[in-house]
Amino acid sequence: MFESRNGVLHVEELSVIDLVERFGTPLYVTSYAKLKENIEAYKKAFNWARVLYAVKANNNLAIMKVIAKENFGADVFSQGELYLSLLAGFDKKFILFNGNSKSEEEIKAGIESGVKFSVDSVDELYTISEIASEMGEEVEIAFRVNPDIDPKTHPKIATGLKKSKFGIPAEQVVETYRLALELPNVVPIGIHCHIGSQITEISPFVEAVNKIFDLAERVEELGIDLKFVDVGGGLGIDYEGKGVPTPEDLANALKPVYEERKSRLDSNPELWLEPGRSLVGNTTILLTRVNAVKRAYKNFVAVDAGFNLLIRPAMYGAYHKIAVANKMDWEEEEVYTVVGPICESGDVLGEDRKLPRVEKGDIIAVFDAGAYGFVMSSQYNGRPRCAEVLVKGSEAYVIREKESFGDLIAKQKIPEFLL
Ligand code: LLP
Repeated sequence: MFESRNGVLHVEELSVIDLVERFGTPLYVTSYAKLKENIEAYKKAFNWARVLYAVKANNNLAIMKVIAKENFGADVFSQGELYLSLLAGFDKKFILFNGNSKSEEEIKAGIESGVKFSVDSVDELYTISEIASEMGEEVEIAFRVNPDIDPKTHPKIATGLKKSKFGIPAEQVVETYRLALELPNVVPIGIHCHIGSQITEISPFVEAVNKIFDLAERVEELGIDLKFVDVGGGLGIDYEGKGVPTPEDLANALKPVYEERKSRLDSNPELWLEPGRSLVGNTTILLTRVNAVKRAYKNFVAVDAGFNLLIRPAMYGAYHKIAVANKMDWEEEEVYTVVGPICESGDVLGEDRKLPRVEKGDIIAVFDAGAYGFVMSSQYNGRPRCAEVLVKGSEAYVIREKESFGDLIAKQKIPEFLL
């Protein structure tokens, strides 16, 4: 879906040169066909399980709608993501409201919507029980457990280690379920964990399934009928072209473990998963124009997108493949550091990349920007956010308009004494 034709990168049938002429730069471009391919891969591999899309990875409504139409559930982490998921058409029966710090307002909204909750602390359990009782509603819950597993990924995105802020420590899990049974209007029906993100080995997932089923066995002894065991998201994508496990590889490893472990239970829980990145990450590129090439201490290529639009390299030292989109068949001959327009030295999209000779006006493509890309963008340095486009065959649809300067002040107010 991202191919070079006559030396120009194409997204499905459209050349990126045409795209930037029509929509300007910077520009996020998503391939519909690639998104469908990823969805199909999950549907095929996990037809024995239930897949909830982790909305945090990309919450553009059009993209969410494509996924919702395929009967995926949704993992939401805030009232805003809940709002977007309902709007996109996800079935509330399979929306799981996650989060380690939900406000009373968020809890109320979740109960009103009739979604399930993943509860992260005893305090939250009490709050949900109280609010649900006041509202006269029964709420189905799972507990997020901290399985203390090393997912072997970047420390900032490892979430299931003992020292992480997420989840109930494994040794407190059984007593927490016992407490839930005593409290009114909360019904424990699931158990949940999530060990981290951009995980490129299968073994931590297998370990997580085993650990969570160990706990499930003890929870069941309390008389709880478990309807789901949710092992979270986290499958990595191939940013560096080194090869990573596919959803099929993950399914092949998890299915026998799940079946064997489930057979030891009296209940018959579904296996739930919450992938984000591996559904949307490789569907999208960020196109950005070269404003200047400077030969200094290094060869710097200064482009019009920086960490205001793609923060992953600056925040996690993440690697994203970079190409000169209008010179795809040129020989790579020089080493460049690709930097954005933000007034900070850390505003680097790619360091020491071998590229064809870059000139002012060239179009740079940054790959695999579909997950934790636009959603983590900001208006820092007074830069309105760019547009997002969805390409389907030879059609391009704007799925988010470019912001204007007016958007920079949209919610601001001037106190009277300054008028
Ligand atoms: N479920 C829960 C409870 C999560 O916290 C996350 C991600 C997911 C599912 C989805 O994980 P995925 O399949 O996308 O790996 N901004 C970071 C990633 C943060 C991930 C946070 N939680 C990055 O750009 O790498």
